[in-house]
Amino acid sequence: HRALGEVWDDEMSSSMLGKRLRKVVQNYQAMNKYGVEFSGPGGVATRPKVSGSELLCQLKYKVDVATLTPDLEPFSSLPWAYQLPLQPITSDLGPYKSCAVVSSAGSLRYSGLGKEIDSHDAVLRFNAAPTVGYEKDVGSKTTVRLLNSQVMASDDHRFLSSSLYSTGVLVAWDPSPFSADLSQWYNKTDYPIFAQYQRYRRLHPLQPFYILHPSFEWQLWQRIQDNMAEPIQKNPPSSGLLGTVLMMSLCEVVHVYEFLPSQRKTELCHYYQRFYDAACTLGAYHPLLYEKNLVKRMNQGLDRDIYTHGRVTLPGFSTLNC
Ligand code: C5P
Repeated sequence: HRALGEVWDDEMSSSMLGKRLRKVVQNYQAMNKYGVEFSGPGGVATRPKVSGSELLCQLKYKVDVATLTPDLEPFSSLPWAYQLPLQPITSDLGPYKSCAVVSSAGSLRYSGLGKEIDSHDAVLRFNAAPTVGYEKDVGSKTTVRLLNSQVMASDDHRFLSSSLYSTGVLVAWDPSPFSADLSQWYNKTDYPIFAQYQRYRRLHPLQPFYILHPSFEWQLWQRIQDNMAEPIQKNPPSSGLLGTVLMMSLCEVVHVYEFLPSQRKTELCHYYQRFYDAACTLGAYHPLLYEKNLVKRMNQGLDRDIYTHGRVTLPGFSTLNC
């Protein structure tokens, strides 16, 4: 009877990081690129730590999983508005019974999780994560691919020409200033998401392609901050958490793989690249450490499943009785 190895501690804080990473995180906590305004950390002193089921209800009712539609300003007065989907993604996709979210973490390598991942009704992948050549570990089904605007804009990802992006429904996101409306964001995106979106749509007009409403990112950021005892990075949540919450709005049950690292935990950043950096798993720019604390608290599966499969089980919003 072997003792269960350590799994993610839901009280992780920047003070538990190594010296180098702690500095980087502290720098981002002090920086405020997007003009985030908030009234201090909730703090355990004023607010007791809420339960996992309370956290799930907060996500369900305080975070609106919205995508851009052509009726919204400023798009309604732009000539390319017709390229945006008429309906939000939550009206067009699902509901699915079971969904898998595949984190891209290096710990997926040699996991043998491919069959299990593909057995879900829908599979979400991120950015440039491939399946070809890695089927045994990550599966081959791609229902949705969530892309950040940096991947869409960078030359080395060949977003407009690579076949990597041609399967499944695409969903893109870009951070807006914290209190900006859509017009202000349109004129101040981090990367040229809208130019790339229009180009891609012209080349692949039949592939569904959504853009996340930036208020989704900041509402989710607020849920993380309100439930942490210390100030978190004032940057949007990582694609991993955005995709997980997106799938919770489309699916009855969501399995997230290697977001909370298994016994295979490694500094290998992605399963598909020979690049090592603990920041990929612990966060630097993104408040990833705190995202993982929340996900650990909401997990309805066993610690054993995290340890052996890197698997977290989250209920879909439609199944919650809040
Ligand atoms: O790096 P990328 O953003 O494409 O990876 C997708 C998501 O998977 C990240 O946003 C993060 O949430 C998660 N991830 C992780 N640990 C890693 C790599 C990625 O938790 N080592």
